[in-house]
Amino acid sequence: MMMNQAWGLTNLFPARAIEDQGDGVTRRARCRTIAVAGGKGGVGKSTVAVNLSMALAIDGRRVVLLDADLGLANVDVMLGLTPTRHIGHLLDGSCHLQELMMDAPHGLKVVPAGSGTRHLAQLGNDGHAAVIRAFDTLDTPPDVLVVDTPAGVSDNVAMFTSAADEVVLVVCDEPASLTDAYALIKVLSREFGVRRFRMVANMVRNAGEAKQLHAKLARVSDRFLDVVIDFAGMVPHDEYLRRAIRRQTAVVDAWPSSRSAMAFKQLAGAVDTWGEPVSPSLGRIAFFGGQGASLAGW
Ligand SMILES: Nc1ncnc2c1ncn2[C@@H]1O[C@H](COP(=O)(O)OP(=O)(O)O)[C@@H](O)[C@H]1O
Ligand SMILES: [Mg+2]
Repeated sequence: MMMNQAWGLTNLFPARAIEDQGDGVTRRARCRTIAVAGGKGGVGKSTVAVNLSMALAIDGRRVVLLDADLGLANVDVMLGLTPTRHIGHLLDGSCHLQELMMDAPHGLKVVPAGSGTRHLAQLGNDGHAAVIRAFDTLDTPPDVLVVDTPAGVSDNVAMFTSAADEVVLVVCDEPASLTDAYALIKVLSREFGVRRFRMVANMVRNAGEAKQLHAKLARVSDRFLDVVIDFAGMVPHDEYLRRAIRRQTAVVDAWPSSRSAMAFKQLAGAVDTWGEPVSPSLGRIAFFGGQGASLAGW
């Protein structure tokens, strides 16, 4: 069967088996899309998005990282990139999504958000939908799209998060992190039909602390909302991570044997065990929810 035909069918039928294109890397028929969210600012969403993306890229996946923190971009800063164009240029029609993509180490491609542009931060629903739909125009969809989302529970956050198949919630052991994560889960489940969340415990001391944090969030969410909160992993508090951020590199690249880098690699490995996402519900605006596309020629 032609690959592009199969890709087009995956929205209607259960996704096909994983493929090996001869390079030893198994690939899914359809791009896996992962939104990294959390509600609260400063909990490590961008850190997780950057390092998870790069760990997946190091693993041989074709990964695109979209900075959806429009107007306050920081993925480019974290990776030492100096974008000349950003999503604003995509929206005013002066460039295509493909032209926006910047090369980061290990083949990772980054779509920068653009910083200090107020009109981007205040983009309406049509603007958000246009950014999401722009991914349908890619000739060569990646294996994985990771979306770094802003803090809060605004339309901006909800649209980008619910457009992904998987929602990774970054939570740390602070009351405000838990309450903000809960607020986000409530909005996404009640208004956008998101039922499953995968929690990453960040800046924890050990696995016990991470599990406790998950139990706290799962307890209130199970009780009051119709959702499933899976435990996806933990990232320890690590000075190497701060050092990497100061050096504008990913810790998985700069200090691959540090505790945080090992945790990100473990998280990247776990992604393959997540199974096929539930098909997007009809009418939902989803990344790669539109046309089929060829996987060849990345
Ligand atoms: N596991 C960690 N260990 C140490 N510092 C961390 C860790 N995760 C995040 N940080 C620090 O927290 C700060 C905020 O992280 P960031 O990813 O920008 O948060 P968010 O995107 O949620 O606002 C970063 O400057 C980073 O240095
Ligand atoms: Mg951030």
